[in-house]
Amino acid sequence: MNFLELVKKRSSCRNYTSKEVSEEKIKIILEAARLAPSACNKQPWRFVVVKNDEIKKRLIKEGCLFGMDMDWATRASVIIVLGIEKSFITHKIAPKISKVDYPLIDLGIAGEHIVLQATELGLGSCWIGWIKPDVIGKIVSFKKQIKPLALITVGYPAESLEKEKKRFPIENITKFL
Ligand SMILES: Cc1cc2nc3c(=O)[nH]c(=O)nc-3n(C[C@H](O)[C@H](O)[C@H](O)COP(=O)(O)O)c2cc1C
Repeated sequence: MNFLELVKKRSSCRNYTSKEVSEEKIKIILEAARLAPSACNKQPWRFVVVKNDEIKKRLIKEGCLFGMDMDWATRASVIIVLGIEKSFITHKIAPKISKVDYPLIDLGIAGEHIVLQATELGLGSCWIGWIKPDVIGKIVSFKKQIKPLALITVGYPAESLEKEKKRFPIENITKFL
């Protein structure tokens, strides 16, 4: 699979089998996240890999916001909590000057490495951003300076990952100068 094929193959998977994802595969996924680039190489991402069923249920039932049926997420083999370390002084000063939220970009890149690596391993994954960060932080015992920004479910897909991509055409989202 070349890179564009991998990108095309990744889609949000909300239907998982009960098969467990091995420790080895989780480590490969985390390694892909660890190698992501970050502003000033600060690597502000922090991850919690949740395999425990009770904690997964709490993350989804207590830690997600209203209006979306998220029960499917509890059936994923693991839920990875993605947080950012907020205490770096550079991350406090630099955005004041540039108005760019670097840790948010950094975590987005690391998270995308996670889902693409999962896809390459034949696994399904889904980003979940409709969360209550404070509640999630308490459930996984993050220190105060670590803010959860997203969850990613990972598991064996019980559906095809090859779905039609509904995306804007390049000319609608790009300007060539
Ligand atoms: C930052 C982010 C947050 C998301 N939050 C949720 C979510 O809370 N619940 C959900 O079911 N899907 C969520 N998604 C998945 C998107 O709905 C999905 O990526 C989008 O519809 C495109 O579909 P695809 O991933 O299958 O290509 C999220 C995706 C991203 C990148």
